Amino acid sequence: MPVISFVSPKGGVGKTTSALILAMQIARRVTVTVIDADPNHPIKSWAEGGDTPENMTIISDVTDKTIGETIAEVATKTPFVIVDLEGTAATIVAYAIAESDFVIVPTQGSQLDAEQASRAFGLIKAHERGIQKHKHDYKLPYAVLFTRTSAAIQSRDTRHIRKSFEAGGIPFFETELNERAAFKAMFSYRQTLEKLPHDEVSNVKKAIDNAESFTREVIARINIYTHSPTTTG
Ligand SMILES: Nc1ncnc2c1ncn2[C@@H]1O[C@H](COP(=O)(O)OP(=O)(O)O)[C@@H](O)[C@H]1O
Ligand SMILES: [Mg+2]
Repeated sequence: MPVISFVSPKGGVGKTTSALILAMQIARRVTVTVIDADPNHPIKSWAEGGDTPENMTIISDVTDKTIGETIAEVATKTPFVIVDLEGTAATIVAYAIAESDFVIVPTQGSQLDAEQASRAFGLIKAHERGIQKHKHDYKLPYAVLFTRTSAAIQSRDTRHIRKSFEAGGIPFFETELNERAAFKAMFSYRQTLEKLPHDEVSNVKKAIDNAESFTREVIARINIYTHSPTTTG
């Protein structure tokens, strides 16, 4: 507990990158299991670089038939479970949502991307309706995460989308995961942010700060919903 899934029917919005960033930062605090449910196994490939933190376990042998049970089982053993999903509306995504305590919907800061994000809300709502037949006030907490935005300026698009999400009661993270060389480099070097070479990758420190603010916000949001103490560092 808790299980956090990254969901968006659109590929390339930053699900895998954001999931790994969160897993890395959580691994500095407590044990974390990452379920790499994308058939391309990007997180497993990253781990093959050999720099997986001691606290992090990666499971990649899941299918739509096994994902539900796998998540349920590891959730009883690990303080945090992070699920990275493929960018489709496949049934595996619905099964993962059904086992989740919190869903993160990454989106890039354009209007078109925001519209794609609403397809993810549809999956969350469908899951809620199923449970609400038995428990009428059930809600699955979720929040939109803006990714690959400029660290320097908030674009007019992003500002507008934030406003319309606010008006529509759609929760989103205050922290954006900015477009940063270090967030790409962790995949090309197959290393944690901490170990990236500062002389070759620019602004590693800023990337770590960005990753850390995001992680703190995730933990804070989960605490609001679960009311249970979670380790913060
Ligand atoms: N915050 C970021 N900063 C820089 N590049 C990013 C960031 N998020 C994602 N990317 C890049 O965008 C591409 C798609 O990201 P990825 O995490 O694989 O998306 P998804 O899992 O949604 O398909 C990759 O090339 C990745 O390196
Ligand atoms: Mg991915």
